[in-house]
Amino acid sequence: MNHSNQVTQEFLDSAQYATASILRYEAVYGEDFVSPGGREITIELVGRMKLAPESRVLDVGCGLGGSAFVMARDFNLRVDGIDLSKNMLAIANEKLAAHGLSERINFKWGDCLELDRPGYYDAIYSRDVFLHIEDKTRLISALYASLRPGGQLLFTDYCCGKKPWSEPFSAYVDDRGYILHTLPDYAELISKAGFEQVEYQDITDRFISILQSDLNKIAALDLVDMDRANLEQSWRDKVVRAKSGDQRWGMFSAVKGS
Ligand SMILES: C[S@@+](CC[C@H](N)C(=O)[O-])C[C@H]1O[C@@H](n2cnc3c(N)ncnc32)[C@H](O)[C@@H]1O
Repeated sequence: MNHSNQVTQEFLDSAQYATASILRYEAVYGEDFVSPGGREITIELVGRMKLAPESRVLDVGCGLGGSAFVMARDFNLRVDGIDLSKNMLAIANEKLAAHGLSERINFKWGDCLELDRPGYYDAIYSRDVFLHIEDKTRLISALYASLRPGGQLLFTDYCCGKKPWSEPFSAYVDDRGYILHTLPDYAELISKAGFEQVEYQDITDRFISILQSDLNKIAALDLVDMDRANLEQSWRDKVVRAKSGDQRWGMFSAVKGS
């Protein structure tokens, strides 16, 4: 991270999203995904937006492109994906060519604080990305500016319970450099940016059940014992943090007024 605690490409690509880590996340979350629930929850969430075919969607922090592939193939949408990790985008672009979806999807390297198509998108979708962003007010204003009037915002993100947090949760958040909010505080930031129909749902129970079924997948992965033990432990730790109420998973939706 740089002085302002703003996440940088170097920080992401050398630590959490080093290529080996990305591939390990993908092995657990499912092909093309680096977020809980993989393809199944993506179909559900994209379906909630009820977008007309050919709508233009921005996938913020597109990762390996899993959501974009679902949106283009299953919902006939046009997608721009932006991500700050060069490692993610290198793999995403290989997958894009292999899936033959280049006509409908464009992946671009960049920071989601610096969006450059004002008023262009019918919807903005994002999965578990904004935890990396310190200046959420600036972020949400940038998203607002990129939507056309009437455009929709839908995202999931890691959130937190009220402080004080347990010592292990504080250490985890510090180590990752995450910037987390409670769900109501987050919703207030979204409203303050000008969004209407702001709704949110605490989906931590869903998070816990996904993590628990991921543990079965980890048991079946072709890993050396030490790697498996570490991966299992990190997933069990997430379950403990989520059950304690410190770590939460939020789903947010809002509309830019006409
Ligand atoms: C947990 S991964 C989720 C990836 C993808 N959304 C998915 O569901 O598979 C978080 C992603 O956010 C990206 N990211 C973090 N900070 C970013 C920023 N400032 N601008 C764009 N992308 C960012 C990371 O590089 C990473 O690909």
